[in-house]
Amino acid sequence: MKPKIVLLTGAGISQESGIKTFRDANGLWNNHDIMEVASPQGWVKNPELVLEFYNQRRRQLHEVQPNAAHKAITKLQSHFPVEVITQNVDDLHERAGNKNVHHLHGELFKVRSEKNENLIYDWKKDLHLGDKAEDGAQLRPHIVWFGEAVPMIEKVIPLVQQADIFIIVGTGMQVYPAAGLVGYLKPEAEIYYIDPSPSPIYTSNSLYIIQEKATKGLPKLVENLINQY
Ligand code: APR
Repeated sequence: MKPKIVLLTGAGISQESGIKTFRDANGLWNNHDIMEVASPQGWVKNPELVLEFYNQRRRQLHEVQPNAAHKAITKLQSHFPVEVITQNVDDLHERAGNKNVHHLHGELFKVRSEKNENLIYDWKKDLHLGDKAEDGAQLRPHIVWFGEAVPMIEKVIPLVQQADIFIIVGTGMQVYPAAGLVGYLKPEAEIYYIDPSPSPIYTSNSLYIIQEKATKGLPKLVENLINQY
C-alpha cells in the first residue's frame, strides 16, 4: 500500500518565490515589530498600520509565482495520498496545483468580520478602515495573529496521526501549536526535514534532515519517494 504523506510547510518554502521569511532579522518583519502588525493588541492600537502592512503583503502576492518546491508537491500528489498543512498565508500551494491544503494561520486573500470569525470573504485588493462585513463590523485580515486561537489545528491533528511519512519544509519550528504536530505522529512514521538552517526537533521518530533549500531538497526527495514506492 502507498504510504500516506503529510507535509508541514513554513515561510521557507515561499522564500525562493521572493516572499521574506518572518525571522530573517531580530523579530522584525519587513521592518515592523511583529507584535505591532500581527497581534490583536496591535490591531486595537493602530488598525491603519496593520491594514497597510497586510495591503503591502497582498500586493506583493500578486507579483510572485509558485516555485519548484510547490510544484514538486503537485507531482507527489499524483503518486501518493498527500495532505498539505501550511503555516503560510500566501496561496502559492494552490496556484501550483496542490490539493488538500490546510492553512493553519489564515489566508492573505481572505478577510473577515472583526466581530464574527465565520463571516469570511475572498479579498484580493487593498482593505481599508470603513470596509464592512454583512454584520456591519469592520473587516480585518483573515490571519491568525499572535495570541489568537488556531481553530484549524483540530482538523489537521487526525491527518498527522494517520501519516506514514511527515515532510517538514522551511519552518523554524518555533511557533505552536504547529511545531507540536510532530508529537501526534505514530511511532513508526518517518520525518524528513528540509531547511538550509534546520532547528532542533524533539522527537523519537526516525528523523532525516536534508540541509538544503526547498527548491533543491524537495524535488529530490519527491523523486526518491516515487522511485522507492
Ligand atoms: N528553503 C527552505 N527553507 C528556507 C529557505 C529556503 N529557500 N530559506 C529560509 N528557510 C528556512 C529558515 O532556515 C527557517 O528555518 O525557513 C524557515 C523560516 O522560519 P520562520 O521565518 O520562523 O517562518 P515559519 O516557521 O513559517 O514561521 C511560523 O510564525 O510569524 C509567524 O504566523 C507566522 O506562519 C508564521 C509562523
